[in-house]
Amino acid sequence: MKSEILNIENIKALQRKLSSLFGVSGFEEDVSSFILSEIESKGLADKAWIDPLGNVLAVKKGNDGQKRILLDAHTDEIGFMISHIEKTGFLRFVPIGSWDTRILLGQTVIIRSESGEVIHGIIGSKPPHLTSVNERKKIVEINNLYIDIGMGSKDEVLNGNINIGTVGTLYSPFEEFPNNMVRGKAFDDRTGCNVLLHIMMLLKEKSEIKDTTLFNFAVQEERGRVGAITGAFNLNPTMGLAIENTTAADVPGIKESEIPVYIGKGPAITVADKSIISSPKVNRRLIKNAEHEKIPFQIKKPMYGYTDAGRIQVTREGVPSSVVSVPCRYIHSSTSLLKLEDIYETIRLIDVFIRNPVNF
Ligand code: CO
Repeated sequence: MKSEILNIENIKALQRKLSSLFGVSGFEEDVSSFILSEIESKGLADKAWIDPLGNVLAVKKGNDGQKRILLDAHTDEIGFMISHIEKTGFLRFVPIGSWDTRILLGQTVIIRSESGEVIHGIIGSKPPHLTSVNERKKIVEINNLYIDIGMGSKDEVLNGNINIGTVGTLYSPFEEFPNNMVRGKAFDDRTGCNVLLHIMMLLKEKSEIKDTTLFNFAVQEERGRVGAITGAFNLNPTMGLAIENTTAADVPGIKESEIPVYIGKGPAITVADKSIISSPKVNRRLIKNAEHEKIPFQIKKPMYGYTDAGRIQVTREGVPSSVVSVPCRYIHSSTSLLKLEDIYETIRLIDVFIRNPVNF
């Protein structure tokens, strides 16, 4: 891998860092401030700032600037919020964003106290010895689960600065698997943030870019795709791309017709998801440029999931938009698994899309 900026080691290091940051929807400050400091310290944009909702917005001016391309990746991750504290010190919680609730029982969680300390907990439910065979066959409903943080009373919890409204997420350390596969939490959508920061680093070196590039590191995607709305309004693009992490269901027991994307086959271009029919014009610019530079890509089967692109396309008088995703297994569970080459090829695809050598 030739480029000094674009190589697997740099992608992995940034993925590790971004994944480790705490950023449950509505509480993205750690992620936003890290991203802004990267942009500012490396001089990656003509202008960068944090808007009132917490989006990191940035502008990289093109020579011509007639076309304004928005790249959007969300900074938030799914998590939970404490909804009740039992007298005995156990915590009840409600999900933030959509969880695969089958996997919650027995998980380790991290809770960030109101004063910023990180506390570990375990998700428990009625013990197996006390449940009937029939009960054990059922998926435990989230309102029958609780979090045990080892504290013995409500007062102890409150003194630890944990209260109703305190948020947390599942604990999942970053680990390297064979074949440049990595696992970790919040890959949805710190992977997109990784892609955007790499694009900014690549653009920094270039003076001949025609179109202006706009960046929204958007908050609260998992709770109604909120940051995408205000960020796109502010940046006023003429074309939009959401960079996401999407379900690679290339695992045993799934019919080929139901596998949206595959690990290792490069970036996935969306033709339609539940929030958008992608602009064929934007997709053609992606595909023609990918073919020109021999970048592998796949077309994601419709229609799975919602993305920020659905919000971007209805900004102001309308913005032709699409989605490019890095394939990822076990999305919306405690841990995700992806292949670093898929991020690498996604960065190459977005980079060539902006440079647009085929002049589409
Ligand atoms: Co996402």
